[in-house]
Amino acid sequence: MPLNPFSNTDQPKFYGRRQGRKIRKAKTTLLDSFLPQIEINDQTVFNKETLFGKPVEQICLEIGFGNGEHLAGQALRNPQNGYIGAEVFKNGVANLLTIITGIKEGEHLPEQISLLPNRSDNIRVFSNDIRLLFKRIPDNFLDKVFILFPDPWPKKRHENRRFINPENLREIARILKKGGVLRIATDHKVYKSWTLHQLHDNADFFWKATCGNDWKHEPQDWVETKYQRKAIREGRKAVFLDYIRL
Ligand SMILES: C[S@@+](CC[C@H](N)C(=O)[O-])C[C@H]1O[C@@H](n2cnc3c(N)ncnc32)[C@H](O)[C@@H]1O
Repeated sequence: MPLNPFSNTDQPKFYGRRQGRKIRKAKTTLLDSFLPQIEINDQTVFNKETLFGKPVEQICLEIGFGNGEHLAGQALRNPQNGYIGAEVFKNGVANLLTIITGIKEGEHLPEQISLLPNRSDNIRVFSNDIRLLFKRIPDNFLDKVFILFPDPWPKKRHENRRFINPENLREIARILKKGGVLRIATDHKVYKSWTLHQLHDNADFFWKATCGNDWKHEPQDWVETKYQRKAIREGRKAVFLDYIRL
């Protein structure tokens, strides 16, 4: 299966944006020169001991990491774990690279781009549609899966575009260990009801909330995201739904 991140052949239909504003020089350099050092490609072997260049305690996957703040924040706080981030939007991938290298637009670019000194090398990036990667991830490989503020596709006629659907939940259940966590956050009423409904009768997952406090507030290990900030600015409240893999 071709894994060229931005080619359109053999790919499942993707309805979001692959690129936004023109990507400026520093970010283009990061995409060209630094991304390959941490990128998941068709040679990558999904081995817990080697994927991150060292054994890790837990492996977490963030699907649709957007600008990468949450992925980078989790990875920085938990250097003992490994983080896989998947994102189709090229500008978002480039933004993550600025966070982890500390390189900003307009600054002199060093000859050798590397991680910021205090960063542990525990992020791997798949810069394409996660559905292309699912089949290559072994059963029971992951401890956590984050899907934060997925595109809501609120119109009824677009509901087949929503990422939380039976097919993707089956793949997530397969790659998540028993006892592992699937965390979904959304600020959209339609998507909240949709998610609760999709997972309600799902024998693979158990919603661990026992009261409003468990899902109306940010979890303890939370890192704020761009879309969450947008929701707050626009007066929408987010919900944080943690499901346990049974
Ligand atoms: C609404 S944004 C939220 C971004 C981020 N999680 C946040 O909270 O700021 C949803 C993101 O998911 C990405 N996305 C949607 N479907 C995806 C897929 N199948 N594989 C990888 N990324 C996907 C989109 O490109 C977009 O950047």
